[in-house]
Amino acid sequence: MSESTHAEPSAPRHMALGVMVHPTGNHVASWLHPQAQIDAGTNFEHYVEVAQIAERGKLDFMFLADAVATRDGNLEALSRWPQYMVFFDPLTLLAGIAARTSHIGLAATITTSYNEPYNVARRIASLDHMSGGRCIWNIVTSANLSEAYNFGREEHYGHEERYERAAEFVDVVTGLLDSWDDDALVRDRASQRYFDPEKLHFLRHKGEHFSVRGPLNTSRPPQGYPVFALASASETGKELAGRVAEIVFTPLHNLAQGQALYQDLKARAARFGRRPEDLKVVPGLNPVIGRTRREAEEKFDYLRSLIHPDVGKELLSNALGNLDLSPYGPEDRLPEATVDQLMATNNPRFKAFLSKERTIREMYEIYAGARGQRTILGSPSEIADEMTYWFREQAVDGFLVHPSVFPTHLEEFVDLVIPELQERGVFRTEYTGKTVRENLGLTRPASRYAVPAKDAVPA
Ligand SMILES: Cc1cc2nc3c(=O)[nH]c(=O)nc-3n(C[C@H](O)[C@H](O)[C@H](O)COP(=O)(O)O)c2cc1C
Repeated sequence: MSESTHAEPSAPRHMALGVMVHPTGNHVASWLHPQAQIDAGTNFEHYVEVAQIAERGKLDFMFLADAVATRDGNLEALSRWPQYMVFFDPLTLLAGIAARTSHIGLAATITTSYNEPYNVARRIASLDHMSGGRCIWNIVTSANLSEAYNFGREEHYGHEERYERAAEFVDVVTGLLDSWDDDALVRDRASQRYFDPEKLHFLRHKGEHFSVRGPLNTSRPPQGYPVFALASASETGKELAGRVAEIVFTPLHNLAQGQALYQDLKARAARFGRRPEDLKVVPGLNPVIGRTRREAEEKFDYLRSLIHPDVGKELLSNALGNLDLSPYGPEDRLPEATVDQLMATNNPRFKAFLSKERTIREMYEIYAGARGQRTILGSPSEIADEMTYWFREQAVDGFLVHPSVFPTHLEEFVDLVIPELQERGVFRTEYTGKTVRENLGLTRPASRYAVPAKDAVPA
């Protein structure tokens, strides 16, 4: 794959690095860790601290996952597992963080299943303006039935239907973001002309799912469009990623699998007439860092010891599509036929933990670290070596780092692993761009009304 020559032709190729911010930490038992911020989900200053640590490490972005519901399930187990029970709306939170940071990209998860494109276009355009071009939209279609219940539905949309809706949703959003040409607002007192009417466009979209006239009441954002991210494992999702995604999140557990997916996604982007380097493959990675490997193992074992068996079983049941685990104890194994059936779905998350040989406890202990993302244990230099190897072997463009406990494990990553990556020449020592798009080396999309329409304006 050719290197990005877009932002700085002579610059070495750098990793894209983001941090996945689950409030207390990515480990399911993180809230029990004495170093965790116990009320993190609704503690604004905690999020600011995390954002500022990430920015000190020159990371590209912080990522906020979301669902428009609390999690449903066994309340006894959920009462011991606060992740995503009480937490802030990502866009509202990121608007506050924008005011307290200057470079870090701000990635908000927003579902296309329970929103309208006009509202979303307006909100992401607003955040992009307010942050000086740092908004990333993580496009999701929602997977939880509990979300449907909050939006007048008794069932969730089917998989294909929600991706069809997502595809049209994104097209309407980009159409609305193009409402105003980049130079439409002349704001000229002398001629008493605020905007040029020729440079304002009505979308007049009428489609299968949406009917939207436009125009948007927010001007074209600094990045043209916020950066679009997507995490999808399915064929339909990967196709949408090839067409619109600039960052793709995915669990990856071995190099060959990573290289195959990397080629697949880049080829899809090229098929849609895009530069392959305008789609970044950024899998999750849960680094458990110790001064020695032994110390990392002790850290991991300690967190593992905090997992309540009810929580472990609930977590595993969720991971396996709400499979009923009530007949089993933590030391049981799943029936072979059940494992075969689950394996046949080819879900990349399953690769980390699902096995006929492992007990239920062993499976949930692996999954608990970062919900199916890859965990690596080691010293800072061992972790940096592994990351560099995957990057140089073109399996990835970077990583979405999942620290186990916030803020301490992010601090360790920033203070101990980032300098190792910088020494190896695979990560920046300073931000070079103003917008997250520039820092990631992504093309700034031209408006569909620009002439000639298909020529992208370089950032
Ligand atoms: C790193 C990562 C973060 C994700 N964050 C969210 C999220 O915040 N909200 C959500 O509804 N889904 C989230 N997902 C799920 C994906 O959007 C997607 O539904 C999942 O990868 C399955 O792919 P499919 O929808 O194509 O079947 C995430 C997935 C990954 C890998």
